[in-house]
Amino acid sequence: MEKMNDLRDLLKHEIEDLQSVEDQIIEALPKMIDKANNPDLKKALSEHLKVTEQHKVRLEKIMKNIGSDSEQSNGKKKGILGGIFGGGKHECKGMKGIIEEGEKIMGTDISPEALDAAIIASAQKVEHYEICGYGTARTFARQLGMEQIARQLEQTLNEEYAADDLLTNLAVMEVNEEAETPNRGSASASSTSRSAGRVKEKANREMEMEPVNAGRNRSSSRDETAKTNNQSTKPKSSGSPRSENGRSSSSSKKTVSKRT
Ligand SMILES: [Fe+2]
Repeated sequence: MEKMNDLRDLLKHEIEDLQSVEDQIIEALPKMIDKANNPDLKKALSEHLKVTEQHKVRLEKIMKNIGSDSEQSNGKKKGILGGIFGGGKHECKGMKGIIEEGEKIMGTDISPEALDAAIIASAQKVEHYEICGYGTARTFARQLGMEQIARQLEQTLNEEYAADDLLTNLAVMEVNEEAETPNRGSASASSTSRSAGRVKEKANREMEMEPVNAGRNRSSSRDETAKTNNQSTKPKSSGSPRSENGRSSSSSKKTVSKRT
């Protein structure tokens, strides 16, 4: 890999990393779908596989746009894409590790109920990695004035948030409780045996406690994004990936330097 000099080079690197991430997820999801027992979980993962395939296509378009934008707006950079990305295909080792950890637990001696909870945990680690990557790339693109690319990245980012929310709801409303008392019967029997009030109360408590999901209203964020690309989402809770990457462009430099 050639030397990376500036934010533009870093953005290209982030996009390439995300391309590897999406490729790996497309390969891993069918195994998770196959192993999942809860029908709602199977459905959610299957739907996310389709969305992930769209993310891959979107990234390919973004990569092409970055290439042409780079050549048009900065003559001295012409040809650098070939230098950075023309070599061997980049593999995201972070995602590889997350997927391997998930596959390891799926291969252990585990009850079907606990396996579903483990699959959700693994899928959410994947989502959080993607949220971090897409949030970072979106903020880089916005900082560089690449508004169209920033919008495309934000679209995927919001879809990753939606997937993460869906998994949280599945975990809190169904799967984690089934894993608490495995072998108690079918999912529906288990669910109907407890009061709806108790489940709702627990869901609210979990959503309040969880730093990544707590207090965020993602649909309102999408609305805010639609209004302006420079006026980003306000962080709703500290510790959230959105808090780190969803700041206004005026605080982007601080965001970059704070990220670890
Ligand atoms: Fe994705």
